[in-house]
Amino acid sequence: MFERIFEILEKQNTWRRKQCLNMIASENVLSPLAEKFLISDFEGRYNEHDKEPHYQGTKYAMEIENLINEIFGKRFNTRFVDCRPISGSIANLCAYHAFLKHGDVFIAPGLTAGAHVSSTRYGIAGVKGLQSISAYFDSEKFILDVDMTSRLIEKYNPKLIMLGRSMFLFPEPIKELREVAGEIPIVYDAAHVFGLIYGGEFQAPLKEGADIITASTHKTFPGPQGGIIIAKANLEEEKWDKIEKAIFPGIISNHHIYRLPALAITALEMNEFGEEYAKQVIKNAQVFAQNLYELGFNVICEEYNFTRSHQVVVDVSELKGGKVVAEKLEKSNIIVNKIALPWDKDKDATHNPSGIRIGLQELTRWGMKEKEMSEIAIFFKRTLLDEENLENVKKDVIEFRKDFQEIKYCKRINF
Ligand SMILES: Cc1ncc(COP(=O)(O)O)c(C=O)c1O
Repeated sequence: MFERIFEILEKQNTWRRKQCLNMIASENVLSPLAEKFLISDFEGRYNEHDKEPHYQGTKYAMEIENLINEIFGKRFNTRFVDCRPISGSIANLCAYHAFLKHGDVFIAPGLTAGAHVSSTRYGIAGVKGLQSISAYFDSEKFILDVDMTSRLIEKYNPKLIMLGRSMFLFPEPIKELREVAGEIPIVYDAAHVFGLIYGGEFQAPLKEGADIITASTHKTFPGPQGGIIIAKANLEEEKWDKIEKAIFPGIISNHHIYRLPALAITALEMNEFGEEYAKQVIKNAQVFAQNLYELGFNVICEEYNFTRSHQVVVDVSELKGGKVVAEKLEKSNIIVNKIALPWDKDKDATHNPSGIRIGLQELTRWGMKEKEMSEIAIFFKRTLLDEENLENVKKDVIEFRKDFQEIKYCKRINF
């Protein structure tokens, strides 16, 4: 059995780390330095705290947590940072718990407009008995429809507005919504785009009118798997108190403190390389989309230069749908996921939806640039349009990956 576990790890590390084109938009890789900091005595320790620590032995855990608050606080110009949420979904749960009670109405993206399941009745919002009303979405421009959504706000007087999505091509119209939202809290779910925002790209939610950012720390932000909540500098103290109470004692007892040193390392690396990385991610996504489009793929939003984020979305309904296409690509060692598009019916959304979503953030970390984007687009064509033997494509993908085995945008320090 021991050998078997070792073998599974070896296979995973070879296959996904070295031989695949990893293009899942919600994944990334840690830098070698951050990875080194992932295993320590913090694994297995606790640090429950509100104003006071509840356990002894926590002085260094507290020190690393305070350091993270300081680094992120400086970047977002606020003292309101909490890195205890153990994932993006849990960060959202904490925000809901702080501001909403059972039966409350809130507005969030619709399921086929890129919502994450946590803001829908199938996920955390449903579990908490919240009523999630779908914001209107302009399915031509792939952005929230401000006029129509303003009418929803007037009609329902929601207790909270949630922005940010899992399928996320263009910035949210935060400023415009702030004008109609009045005092209603706006929470911006930056799970996907947190690394771009940290790098100064995409948009600046807190400056544009959001009250709170929730995020994952492992998607475009290339840190360890976890979550974070950051609030605007002038948030009322009692609102931040509600968030802190929602986090502990409300929802989280053990916040997986082993991940925090790696999170701090990633943030420091992002301070140094984040801007260059974020710019290259977006450039790669735009160039990759253009290449796919020229090869005959039905890439979404051609009139709007396809994307302003790390994502590219392709309508593959004529190629038998997102599930079939994603499975075929996996046979060529190209890893993407299916996704529902606005014209899909809810019931088809999880089975074989019309779209695939492609993320360029990880390949950018492996050092790929514009030239490689055109080569990868050809692997897509060979797999999906040319009906080539997929074993041959896979061999060529593995060969291609051999030149990209070192993670960029990070520090090289030997500890
Ligand atoms: C918009 C959005 N919010 C929240 C989450 C959940 O994040 P996590 O997987 O860190 O819980 C995701 C996950 O992909 C997401 O896309």
